[in-house]
Amino acid sequence: MFGKTFAGGALAAILLSSVAATAQLPAVLTIHADKPAHAVSPTLYGLMTEEINYSYDGGLYAEMVRNRTFETTWEGQKYWYLVEHGDASAKMEADKTTGPSTALPHSLRLDVAKAGLHSTAGVLNTGWWGMALRPHTEYTGSLYAKASADDLGPVTISLVNDNTGNDVATATTPALTKEWKRYTFTLNTGDIEPSSTNHLLLTVGHSGTLWLQLVSLFPPTYHDRLNGNRIDLMEKMAAMHPQFLRFPGGNYLEGNHIDERFEWKKTIGQLVDRPTHPSPWGYRSSDGMGLLEFLEWCEDLHMEPVLAVYAGYSMQQEHVDPGPKLEPYVQDALDEIEYVTGSTNTKWGAVRAKNGHPKPFKLTYVEIGNEDFFDKSGSYDGRYAQFYKAIKAKYPDLQLIATAPIKNMKPDVIDDHFYVRATKNFQDADHYDKTDRNGPKIFVGEWATREGAPTPNFGAALGDAAWMTGLERNSDIVVMSCYAPLLVNVDPGGMQWETDLIGYNAMKSYGSPAYYAQVMFASHLGDHVLTSNVDNAGAKFFYSVTASKAKKTIYLKLVNASSDPKTVDLNLDGISLSSTANLVTLSAHNPEETNSISDSSNLVPVNTAIDGVSSHFAHTLPPYTIQVMELHEE
Ligand code: AHR
Repeated sequence: MFGKTFAGGALAAILLSSVAATAQLPAVLTIHADKPAHAVSPTLYGLMTEEINYSYDGGLYAEMVRNRTFETTWEGQKYWYLVEHGDASAKMEADKTTGPSTALPHSLRLDVAKAGLHSTAGVLNTGWWGMALRPHTEYTGSLYAKASADDLGPVTISLVNDNTGNDVATATTPALTKEWKRYTFTLNTGDIEPSSTNHLLLTVGHSGTLWLQLVSLFPPTYHDRLNGNRIDLMEKMAAMHPQFLRFPGGNYLEGNHIDERFEWKKTIGQLVDRPTHPSPWGYRSSDGMGLLEFLEWCEDLHMEPVLAVYAGYSMQQEHVDPGPKLEPYVQDALDEIEYVTGSTNTKWGAVRAKNGHPKPFKLTYVEIGNEDFFDKSGSYDGRYAQFYKAIKAKYPDLQLIATAPIKNMKPDVIDDHFYVRATKNFQDADHYDKTDRNGPKIFVGEWATREGAPTPNFGAALGDAAWMTGLERNSDIVVMSCYAPLLVNVDPGGMQWETDLIGYNAMKSYGSPAYYAQVMFASHLGDHVLTSNVDNAGAKFFYSVTASKAKKTIYLKLVNASSDPKTVDLNLDGISLSSTANLVTLSAHNPEETNSISDSSNLVPVNTAIDGVSSHFAHTLPPYTIQVMELHEE
């Protein structure tokens, strides 16, 4: 999907000049095609996300209104501004005394002293660094409102171009009443230029007081889901062929304080019943991306959820002692698993059905906490054991992931995290080669080569590719792996953590070179690893070889992280090969080269065909190159 065909034999020219310039000894790589080493874990590649870098709000979750619930800080109701057209006069302020629900008991109060048909008053919202509008597109919105008197009339809702002041689309509600009510509307754009310099305007043409809450606007979403996700970002993830989604964190699961954890029960049902909560990454979460939305995201991309449950530790060194005090948290996790997997005859399965999804979700892995090695109280052993006992008693087939080593018991799976520089990954690509096969299975639940901001550069992609060859080679013990963080809003102030796989603003998104390395690896993966050995690899050459019997294909991944070309003498035993092979190449002039929001396809995979494939042939990789060679059995 992302590959482009290399123009006019240019790749051949590079390869030839590369051969001439080869300064490294050729590697000698022998592959025994008739000797499988072990199966590849079918869940090897997946996704990890949390609310960080405006990943959901201002990112994947397609809501266009920022601070839709009028949260108030010392700066007032951020992203909302008072509007007084002509000689209209009004004031706006937070009102803590009235709101449409128990979860949202507050609102924005607008006192309109003077307004008329051509001198309207109201408020505008600037969106997530603008509002992206496209031509001939329907935007679906809703708001809660009430008025002090029946003569206030309707609210006019418009999308307005910031630069021209022109209305791009307009709708009106019925006349407001003295009761809180939800109003829905649609805004249709015409023949406009795509742009994100737009805002949402709500006005009235009559004096009086009105209250507003939960003002929402969505563009078309992936699979047309209500309250759904951005299409471009979902498509980018789909191209990674992810097998699972680890959610909801990360630090976001834990929160800075216990009462700021991800409380799943407060993230389900109608949006008006979700109170929102502070995230540890410096901004408040709308919780529009709630538990069911995570699960539907899995459904849309054919992924299995890897459900992380809150396990009694929050990041400011707050913990819950194992024993009776931890019981409510254990029960919460049991309820959560029932919400995900239970039939509609169960209490929480019935709630899921009421929320719109009667069909249970498949669940294999549950993670107990996140990075509990940071808990200085030493309580994790006891907390893990208590969750383990209770969950296994009810769900014996679930695999329970520990986030730190456990004394006196072997967890099913252990979650390892690695944030390193490329050099470290070149040295450590054999990290799991000697891991005890009788120990817990490994989930590499967060990993990244951190070079480049906001998104990784090509040097980071090389580090990642070297690391992934090790994951594939050890995919008998490494059952799952996922990069983190996945997403970043590249607008000013959008990033809290450098080096994130996919970048975006309101209008568009792009994949980093490291993203394309993952697309290449995950979309060319066999079901078993072949026995192989290499001589003269040198310090910066890495490879992995998997195969699919059904597809009669060998997938050979080759990484040359050196500034010199690298020739590989390939010996393939036990197979008769077609003389042509497919080659996918991702290559750069130097490690600092990268993609960006304004140059999104500077480095993308290139598809070519190579001839002269046989049981013994030489292949040369250009400098700074990641390749996948697809060899076909004759
Ligand atoms: O991925 C960013 C953060 O790194 C995660 O929230 C946390 O688990 C880790 O420390």
